[in-house]
Amino acid sequence: MADGTVPAAAGDMHVAIIMDGNGRWAQRRGRPRLFGHQAGARRVRDIVEACPDLGVRYLTIFAFSTENWKRTQTEVSGLMSLFRRYIRNEAARLLRKGVRVRFIGDRVRLDPKLVEMMDELEAMTSGNDTVHLTIALNYGGRDEVARATQRLAREVAAGRLAPDAVDAETLAGFLDTHVLPDPDLVIRTSGEARISNFLLWQSAYAEYDFVDTLWPDFTPEDFARCLSRFSKRDRRFGAVAG
Ligand code: FPP
Repeated sequence: MADGTVPAAAGDMHVAIIMDGNGRWAQRRGRPRLFGHQAGARRVRDIVEACPDLGVRYLTIFAFSTENWKRTQTEVSGLMSLFRRYIRNEAARLLRKGVRVRFIGDRVRLDPKLVEMMDELEAMTSGNDTVHLTIALNYGGRDEVARATQRLAREVAAGRLAPDAVDAETLAGFLDTHVLPDPDLVIRTSGEARISNFLLWQSAYAEYDFVDTLWPDFTPEDFARCLSRFSKRDRRFGAVAG
């Protein structure tokens, strides 16, 4: 499109998910929040593996936001070890299932050991093409645009890019997501109707679906229902109905 956004080709849908509600799911069972995150991690597998049958080629999930550092030290370090465990335990299965994994977000603040594991998983699955799973980790939409602008500004300062040549497409090329199509559908679980700094730029024309189900209860059937609702929507990308 003229402004640099890229709609996915038919059958190559891009769905992004804000996986919310782990804490409440645990609370309702009288368990610590981390128990909910562990249940949430198991759901990730079910949803990733449902993608090929549902026509979803690109799945982007919000695992940890730039704001999530404000949680207690116990929860933050519990989540970080959950991410390490996920990579360690799922790598072989992801490879076998044809899943290509990418991470978006700022890696600078993450533990170097975790970053090394992320790099390895990306390299190991780089030949896969069935499902493109992007995990947003220490990710914030505004932070991403700011980091992209920094990189762009460096190109301008070095004389490799003319200021007048900068348009939306140029900036999109500096985003963490530059190799991905824009999301067609953004789902948020747990009944909250907010986007919480997720894929701000990329979701300009996305459809949104806010579902009441808490993430650890979100099944492939719920996912299929979201896609069915999506298929009935009339997307116009700013144009009039055809
Ligand atoms: C939001 O629920 C969820 C998170 C901040 C973490 C998401 C992480 C996972 C689903 C775990 C595993 C992910 C991977 C990729 C292995 P919340 O804690 O804000 O829930 P609440 O709103 O009920 O408190």
